[in-house]
Amino acid sequence: EEWKERGAAVGTQRETDASGQTTVRPIKKGVKDFNFGRTLGEGSYSTVLAATDRQNLKEYAIKVLDKRHIIKEKKVKYVNIERDTLNRLTEHPGIVRLYYTFQDERSLYFVLDLASGGELLGVLKKLGSFDIECTRFYGAEILDSVAYMHSRGVIHRDLKPENVLLDSNMHVKITDFGTAKILPDPRPNGRNVTGEPSGDPTDGAETDRAVSFVGTAEYVSPELLRDKNACKASDLWAFGCIIYQLLAGRPPFKAANEYLTFQKILALDYSFPDGFPEDARDLVERLLVLEPSNRLPVEHIKSHRFFDGMQWGKSLWRQKAPRLS
Ligand code: ADE
Repeated sequence: EEWKERGAAVGTQRETDASGQTTVRPIKKGVKDFNFGRTLGEGSYSTVLAATDRQNLKEYAIKVLDKRHIIKEKKVKYVNIERDTLNRLTEHPGIVRLYYTFQDERSLYFVLDLASGGELLGVLKKLGSFDIECTRFYGAEILDSVAYMHSRGVIHRDLKPENVLLDSNMHVKITDFGTAKILPDPRPNGRNVTGEPSGDPTDGAETDRAVSFVGTAEYVSPELLRDKNACKASDLWAFGCIIYQLLAGRPPFKAANEYLTFQKILALDYSFPDGFPEDARDLVERLLVLEPSNRLPVEHIKSHRFFDGMQWGKSLWRQKAPRLS
């Protein structure tokens, strides 16, 4: 198996030899450039470690992936999807940024933004549920991030509170793009001389992926269960589930096992607890809609009364995060 070597050159280094000849060469970061620290998280194919750049002491989270295990379990495609999508999503504060990639004999390394506040799920579990102000703020930051990734042609497909991390100022950083989908370029003949839609290099294998891939049960959209097909609106279904969960303390569709959860989703079998805020209820009801094309689009969500008075755009990310309660 081949691992593409295309880490970005990050600056240059000047070297002058004995004859006075100066050469300028790109610096490629590697394992030796970082001090590795505590474990931040562990997945089936990777471990995320805190690390410090030895040159400037800047802190990162480094995702270390085991090459042998990934090859054996046929996950190479997903690792490439994660790298390719993150490389497309570099201009938004709400998405974990990929700074460098490198490898050694055993592992691949993704150097990412450190999100020291941990998972939104952890904070939610500690508090039970969020008040309206916190739900509006975290909902707005998640939505703004989703709007950006959709504008860049990326569907996340596994949005959930575990994949919403928080930085040191308690602002959102969305992570885990290993199951994302890159949409074909919508520009006419964009970047493709054959006239075929360009884009997702994995399209040929998309059918088997669609069959085998189901995100986390509680947040999976009905179209993914029914047609094995996710679209941008599938992320908005998950967003509706998250808004519900922040206020209610539990996701809308939850049952004893995955099969029963899927049955509830397909039947739109959920209800609101007493005291659930009316504006939020109206928004969730316009997102948890079986037909994806009938879900509220991003721009209408932003102007929904639940988000009345919300400052969108850059000022959302500059404001102080509300005290959690
Ligand atoms: N766990 C997984 N990814 C992380 C990140 N980027 N920062 C902190 N913890 C994490």
